[in-house]
Amino acid sequence: MNRFYLLLCLTSLALSSFAQSPGARSTLNFNQNWTFNLGDVNDGQNTSLDDSKWRKVNLPHDWSIEGEFSKDNPATPEGGALPGGIGWYRKTFTVPASSKGKLVYIAFDGVYQKSTVWVNGHELGFRPNGYTSFRYDMTPYLNFGGKNTIAVKADNSVQPNSRWYSGSGIYRNVWLVTTNKTAIDQWGTYVTTTDVSSKSATVNLTVDVKRPEGDHSSVTLVSSVLDANGKTIASQTTQSVVSASAQKFTVANPSLWSVEKPYLYKVVTKIVNHNVVVDEYTTPLGIRYFDFDPDKGFSLNGKFMKILGVCDHHDLGALGAAVNYRALQRQLEILKSMGCNGIRTSHNPPTPELLDLCDKMGFIVMDEAFDCWERGKVKYDYHLYFKEWAKRDLEDQILRDRNHPSVMIWSIGNEIPQQSDTSGARVAKYLSAIVHSLDVTRPITSANDHPDTRNQIVKSGAIDLIGYNYHEFDYAKFHERYPGKKFIATETTSGLETRGFYQMPSDSVMRWPTKDKKGMNEDHTVSAYDNVAPPWGSTHEQTWKIMKKYDFLSGMFIWTGFDYLGEPTPYSWPSRSSYFGILDLAGFPKDIFYMYQAEWTNKTVLHIFPHWNWEPGKTVDVWAYYNNADEVELYLNGKSVGVKKKTGDDLHVMWRLKYEPGTLKAVSRKNGKEVLTREIKTAGAAAKIELSADRKTIKADGSDLSFITARILDKDGNVVPDADNTIKFSINGVAVIKATDNGDPVSHESFQTHDRKAFHGLALAIIQSKLQAGNAVLTATSAGLPSVTLQVIIAK
Ligand code: GAL
Repeated sequence: MNRFYLLLCLTSLALSSFAQSPGARSTLNFNQNWTFNLGDVNDGQNTSLDDSKWRKVNLPHDWSIEGEFSKDNPATPEGGALPGGIGWYRKTFTVPASSKGKLVYIAFDGVYQKSTVWVNGHELGFRPNGYTSFRYDMTPYLNFGGKNTIAVKADNSVQPNSRWYSGSGIYRNVWLVTTNKTAIDQWGTYVTTTDVSSKSATVNLTVDVKRPEGDHSSVTLVSSVLDANGKTIASQTTQSVVSASAQKFTVANPSLWSVEKPYLYKVVTKIVNHNVVVDEYTTPLGIRYFDFDPDKGFSLNGKFMKILGVCDHHDLGALGAAVNYRALQRQLEILKSMGCNGIRTSHNPPTPELLDLCDKMGFIVMDEAFDCWERGKVKYDYHLYFKEWAKRDLEDQILRDRNHPSVMIWSIGNEIPQQSDTSGARVAKYLSAIVHSLDVTRPITSANDHPDTRNQIVKSGAIDLIGYNYHEFDYAKFHERYPGKKFIATETTSGLETRGFYQMPSDSVMRWPTKDKKGMNEDHTVSAYDNVAPPWGSTHEQTWKIMKKYDFLSGMFIWTGFDYLGEPTPYSWPSRSSYFGILDLAGFPKDIFYMYQAEWTNKTVLHIFPHWNWEPGKTVDVWAYYNNADEVELYLNGKSVGVKKKTGDDLHVMWRLKYEPGTLKAVSRKNGKEVLTREIKTAGAAAKIELSADRKTIKADGSDLSFITARILDKDGNVVPDADNTIKFSINGVAVIKATDNGDPVSHESFQTHDRKAFHGLALAIIQSKLQAGNAVLTATSAGLPSVTLQVIIAK
């Protein structure tokens, strides 16, 4: 045994036998048992204030979503037409005496907005940006072994401050973090991978160690790379570390992170001081390499592919901005089933759980910082704070997010008004220097709506990827304009649709909003044939045809995956939520979902629409999206209406026929053999409600959700396409009805109501578990229809 090997053995023997300091680090969820007051409170931070009459709430909490829609709310319909205001939160808690000598922090993932936090009457700090994560050290002000009071004021009263629905309050998770005085700093690790191949990869880790003031003694850092089964596959020990250290690991035959197989490792780092482990910290790790090539586009692990992404805002529909893990996971599951592989966090840093999910589920993330810089878009937006806060907010975002393998692009801004003057170049350079000082492994983009060469942000040379919003007919000219540069379609499409509403002729594109709203619909509907887009946008098919055509178009982020609250283009009040989604606000797919599914997945698709309930004799356009077949034949009441094939760059086929009630049947065939069959029947009168749950067993954790769809059917089980019956939901057992929705952008029913009208035959009830295990039974009743029930198991 050589000396080196002997030393190695002794060291690892010694390390495995180090004692663990009790509770070296604890990160406790701090969401339960807060009190809340809507409205300003004089001296609300005062410990002796009597808050016993305040409402009891658990976080995350968004007070705006509980309010009533009104065009007079200062958010305006663009901001979702819900109330803002000032809200106060308080919580009393004890810190064990045993924590004396440790550091105790309160960490917020995000508070909208302008939050001030106090503990025991001492102000800890102010953060204007509603999307950044931050923490405060409470140690000097705490009563160890006694009672403490934390107070948070969120001020969302000065509006409009957002172009979309923001939500209000402590709408993300809160954590109580306790560490020793020697500990890994907040976001204090940075992991990167280099020399990655299927044979081997180098993992580089830097660790920042926070030390008590004046303590220059050294500690030992022990880090291990663990595979997905928790098996240690590489370890490093560094002695004599005072404040920062770098470690390197070699991983043989790494399982690479990809969108199809998002394999996750982790790095566990321990600080050892005088033979005691004083901190333990876990950093996520995905081993992958990627590149944007000016000519060939995006590649991941050497394989060329397109980023097929969507933009989304942060609201979760009827749940508002209040973060819920399951609601986010459901959105991503739906997008994944469509073949989507990318998310743009428009136009702000996301909740950390979104990135965790993207790491786990295989999405490529464009992590965006700002919607404006020094010049604003609405009167009270972030431009008021940009000069003072942008550096801090951007640094915090990069430090927080740079270990996520899913994050592959930083965006420093969306449609920044300063594109057209030299201040844009100045700020772009300033921001990219901040990003590059903290991460050089990902390209920086900005989402430009002036994609010509006079754009000052692009001209500044500060961005690595040239991002175009819209302007799809300019894509072909990209290399003429920007020779040798790399392209990304940061935002595309903005197609407009109301789920279940169809306006013919389907093959002519309407550009809405029109001047003076001419030709638009009084009931604020928009056709779902993919034949309406705003003047700056394009239809889904138009955009995708171009994206498909050129390899150098590395990827796209469609505006948007889901409808969101606010920005009700092409209308305004009484509309209060968007029409841009591929899915509506409730998460029900619009027809265009199936065009993407047919194009972006291997799943065999045949989707025909519209419904089959029209005035007799009306000429109706029937569309089919299909794949894995040569042709589709349509039959009306058993008689062939013709065989259609996609030719050229077609993405759908269409038949124009005279309506007669009955059965429409489509058959897709390959080499003459039937692939799929779809039928739509003329529905009769509403006769029953059908309930179906996305998950029939959920966790008894007080947070998990089951999304239950109610469909209004005729006696034969056909969805009644124009059904708007009011469904009364009620629940028994260990769950509550958290919210209801139907996807209608014009509905002013509160999301809290349990009486929800169906919209084009569908409604949604979202039920949430309590902390006890058991059953929950949802009942749906509606005048003239038999009641139905559905049971969900709430499991420990
Ligand atoms: C873009 C903008 C988005 C949204 C969209 C609507 O210009 O970046 O935030 O407003 O238009 O089409």
